Amino acid sequence: MPDITIAQLEDWKKNKKKIAAITAYDFSFARLFFNQGIPVILVGDSLGMTIQGHSSTIPVKIKDIEYHTKSVRKGAPNTFLVSDLPFMSYFDTITTLKNTAKVMRSGANMVKLEGGKWLIPIIKELSSRSILVCGHIGLTPQSVNYLSGYKIQGKNDNEANKLIDEALLLEEAGIKMLVVECIPEKLAKKITENLSIPVIGIGAGKYTDGQILVMQDLLGITEGEKPTFVKNFLAESNSIQEAVQKYINEVKQGIYPHMKHCF
Ligand code: KIV
Repeated sequence: MPDITIAQLEDWKKNKKKIAAITAYDFSFARLFFNQGIPVILVGDSLGMTIQGHSSTIPVKIKDIEYHTKSVRKGAPNTFLVSDLPFMSYFDTITTLKNTAKVMRSGANMVKLEGGKWLIPIIKELSSRSILVCGHIGLTPQSVNYLSGYKIQGKNDNEANKLIDEALLLEEAGIKMLVVECIPEKLAKKITENLSIPVIGIGAGKYTDGQILVMQDLLGITEGEKPTFVKNFLAESNSIQEAVQKYINEVKQGIYPHMKHCF
């Protein structure tokens, strides 16, 4: 199987072929997702909650991302692999370059950073060194304390316009992909239409170029109250493999997310 590349994902956007992405943290699940044909895997800092049991992503360290990226890459050799740079691992350019090198050497194709305008010099620096960067705006879990919880973002015109501006500025600075999390569907549509890079949504409605879900949410094993956008694909399937196929197909056909999963 040939490697999935950023050029291919850009073509998918142009040709309106939806991208189904998922998080993974270990070899076995990465292999299963790879075998089912998932094109993009994220080694998310959500591992702080799903693997380490913390109440937020803030305790995650760069060595955790390195460890999990290595395991996932072994399971998914040709998948386009994005790895998160965790909290405070990209606070200045030198630190970011050093930490990016660690994650790329572990097998990532692209690094993901959370935030808006303040990231512009860092993104420019990474891009000028041919590093692929993914932005992440809207609900940015590393800012959970500042945001006073995991809440929908961009609800009023001011906030929405700020997010559109930030998306455009980040693209101009050099990001090659953007994750938009927990924003109204209408706003995500506008951002997707205004950017030429793939925009991947989570809790952002059906008009983005692709969707991403945390694997534990997709398989219905996250305890407690679930966000509105989460769908348990295993509940309607006979195996994990079938659940992943169902997710891929529903994203491709625009069945997921349904109206009830949107803000
Ligand atoms: O860390 C993560 O899993 C993420 C996704 C929710 C997009 O950033």
